[in-house]
Amino acid sequence: MKQIKINGGKPLSGEIHIGGAKNSAVALIPAALLADGISVINNVPNITDKDALFEIVKSLNCEVKMDGTVVTLDSSHIVNTTISEKLSHQLRASYYFMGVLLAKYKHVEMYFPGGCNIGARPIDLHLKGFEALGAKIEYNEDNHKYIISADELIGTRIPLEFASVGATVNIMFAASLAKGITTIENAAKETEIINIADFLNKMGAKISGAGTSTIIIEGVERLKATTIDVIPDRIEAGTYLLMGALLGEDLVVCGVNPNHITSLLNKLKDMGVKFSINGDKIKINKCNNLNPINITTLVYPGFPTDLGQPMSVLLTQANGVSLFEETIWENRMQHIEYLNKMGANIILKDNTHAIINGPSKLKGSMINATDLRGGAALVMAGLIAEGETIISNIEYILRGYENIIRKLKNVGADIRIIKSEE
Ligand code: UD1
Repeated sequence: MKQIKINGGKPLSGEIHIGGAKNSAVALIPAALLADGISVINNVPNITDKDALFEIVKSLNCEVKMDGTVVTLDSSHIVNTTISEKLSHQLRASYYFMGVLLAKYKHVEMYFPGGCNIGARPIDLHLKGFEALGAKIEYNEDNHKYIISADELIGTRIPLEFASVGATVNIMFAASLAKGITTIENAAKETEIINIADFLNKMGAKISGAGTSTIIIEGVERLKATTIDVIPDRIEAGTYLLMGALLGEDLVVCGVNPNHITSLLNKLKDMGVKFSINGDKIKINKCNNLNPINITTLVYPGFPTDLGQPMSVLLTQANGVSLFEETIWENRMQHIEYLNKMGANIILKDNTHAIINGPSKLKGSMINATDLRGGAALVMAGLIAEGETIISNIEYILRGYENIIRKLKNVGADIRIIKSEE
């Protein structure tokens, strides 16, 4: 078993380059299967979630190659529309094969998706969307297997009860090859959705309104293979900026789209953090006198839930009391136990509300990553703590942060992977 070992307190300076957005890439890879032929996806991040997706596409008889950050997929010879239980469980984004395979082959069999344990994570909105388009769904309660099929899919109006990212994208996939027009109301507006709609439109789909709350999809008969670039990862960028606010000495986060992280930048300003934006680069410096603030996570363009946990570490260093409220996921405070073990003073009111009393000196400890973003938060805590921190369960972190150890080492962190003695 591997662990991350950090000797805290080292300043961070130099350049960190941001990779492609995880949440785009994990949808673009399945989306390539909507087309026949060879699709090319550029700027795919080197995260383990992509390996799990490659295993799935290979199991469907789709060829996939990765050269650097360029992924090539040949979907001409797909023979199978069933995904095994093991592969379905490997990651949350396996759910995207439901929309894709249903659209293209009118049939898909797979199991409930996996992913971090940050809440119940139902997929009812995806399924209701497929049903509205005319699909039939059989569900086996014992093994959580879904068989989704349709004679034909017919466009319709689909109002979402909640602006779910996954449901919006999955319905977009299914509707792209349906007959007639589908309108998704209360659609999610996350930037990744625009990237995914751009890919589909380059394939020949007719989608308008991505990035707004109403997306209109005029179904087409077939889609042709094409090329797309994954947009920069706003969550990875935000995580390194938060580290820069604690330890930066002219740390430059490169390859960011600042417009995608406005809510974070506004909160950093409120806290008194100094940074400067130059095109796609943001230079940030450590702030010694952080103001406490309140954070409520919201759907885009609100403060992203995926940055709530890393932000909670910055708040442990603010001068006073901050409130941190998580509104998207009901189980995203598990990392707090470990921050308190390291010396933070955080009171959990319930699973979604925390009162963070700062500033606290953090001490190096033995801790466990509890989920992807919570794991990144603990890396942050280790970087500012006095002494040695050892983090277990690092697989969570490697699922979504490419080359995190190398990137942090390059800017001065004392961090490495070690083999556990157990
Ligand atoms: C995506 C992101 C994840 C991020 C989340 C919210 C991917 C692969 N993951 O997850 O990093 O934290 O958006 O920005 O892109 N819900 C339902 N029924 C459904 C679907 C969702 O009730 O059918 C609820 C969820 O329980 C949750 C909320 O809606 O409370 C948000 O979920 P959703 O936007 O769907 O998140 P994901 O697409 O799973």
